[in-house]
Amino acid sequence: MFNFGSDVKPELADIDWDNLGFGFMPTDYMYIMKCSQGENFSKGELQRFGNIELSPSAGILNYGQGLFEGLKAYRKYDGNILLFRPEENAFRLRMGAERMCMPSPTVEQFVEAVKETVLANERWIPPPGKGSLYIRPLLMGSGAVLGLAPAPEYTFLIYVSPVGNYFKEGLAPIHLIVETEMHRATPGGTGGVKTIGNYAAVLKAQSAAKAKGFSDVLYLDSAQKRYLEEVSSCNVFVVKGNVISTPAIKGTILPGITRKSIIDVAISQGYQVEERLVTVEELLDADEVFCTGTAVVISPVGSITYLGKRVTYGSTGVGLVSQQLYSALTSLQMGLTEDKMDWIVV
Ligand code: COI
Repeated sequence: MFNFGSDVKPELADIDWDNLGFGFMPTDYMYIMKCSQGENFSKGELQRFGNIELSPSAGILNYGQGLFEGLKAYRKYDGNILLFRPEENAFRLRMGAERMCMPSPTVEQFVEAVKETVLANERWIPPPGKGSLYIRPLLMGSGAVLGLAPAPEYTFLIYVSPVGNYFKEGLAPIHLIVETEMHRATPGGTGGVKTIGNYAAVLKAQSAAKAKGFSDVLYLDSAQKRYLEEVSSCNVFVVKGNVISTPAIKGTILPGITRKSIIDVAISQGYQVEERLVTVEELLDADEVFCTGTAVVISPVGSITYLGKRVTYGSTGVGLVSQQLYSALTSLQMGLTEDKMDWIVV
C-alpha cells in the first residue's frame, strides 16, 4: 500500500494495482470552490493537486466547522467510468451543512464537480475489478474567526485517491469489540452528519482496540448502553433467519448511502429488513453480522467481543447473506448487472 506525502507522487507504473489498500495517494487535480458567509457557491475550478493555505484562525482548525463525504468511481471493462448515487452524497452534505451552519453547493454543483474531478484524474482510476477511485469532497469554514461563530468564508474541495480494500482483512471477516465506556454520539449532537469531529472522537477507542488485535470498535447508545449504534467508519447489520435488522436513523447514526442501498437490495432479494432499535443481546445471538460503508463496502464480521465474552459467527468465513449482498451490490457498482434502481451515473 502507498502512503505518500502530498508532494511525493508515485508514477502510475509503480502502482501495484493488485494490492491497493486504503492509503492516501496524491493524484493530478483537485477541485476548489469558495464562497462568503451568506452567499451561495457559484463557480469552482480544477487546480493542480497540492497543499492548501489556511489562516491559523480558520473556522475548521479552531472550531471544527467541517464536513466530508466519500464516494467512488469505477472503471468498467467497456471504458466507461461509473459513479454510484453521487446525488445522495450531495443531499447528505447539504443536510450536514445545515447542522454545522455552513453554506453548501447545490446537488447539481456537487455532482458536476465530482464528474470534473474524476475525469481530470482519470488515469488514476484502477483497472476494472482492481479497486476504485475514492472521491473525498470536503466542506470547511476556511475564513478566519476568533470568537466562536460561523466562519466568514467557506471552501468546497474535492480530491481523489485510488483505493482497494479498507480493512487489511480484505473480504475476510473482521473482528469487533463493543465499546462500553466511550461513545461516538449522543442525542441532539452531530452523530447523524458527516462532520470531521465524529471521526476524531473514535480514534482513542479504535487505537486501543487495534492494539488488542481487533479490527475496529462497535458503539452502543450513550443513554442505556444497550442498543447498537455503528462502527467507527461504517453501519452495522444483524442477520437472524430471513430477517436483517439495522439500527434506525435517529440522529446519532450516520445515514450511510451503502446502508440505504443494501436495505433496498436485501428487500429485492426477498429478505425482511427492519430498521429499529437493535440490542446487543440480538447481536450476540445473530446468525451473521456485517458492516456497510462506502469505504468498507460490505465487511463480514467474524467475531464480536462484549464485556470480555467473544462470540464467533459462521465457521466457513464469509456468511452467505453477506456474500450474496456483497456480490449484488458490487456487480451493480461495477456495471456488471442491469441498473434497475437507476443508481449509476456514467
Ligand atoms: C466512507 O466510507 O467513505 C467514509 O467516509 C468512512 C471513512 C472513515 C473512510
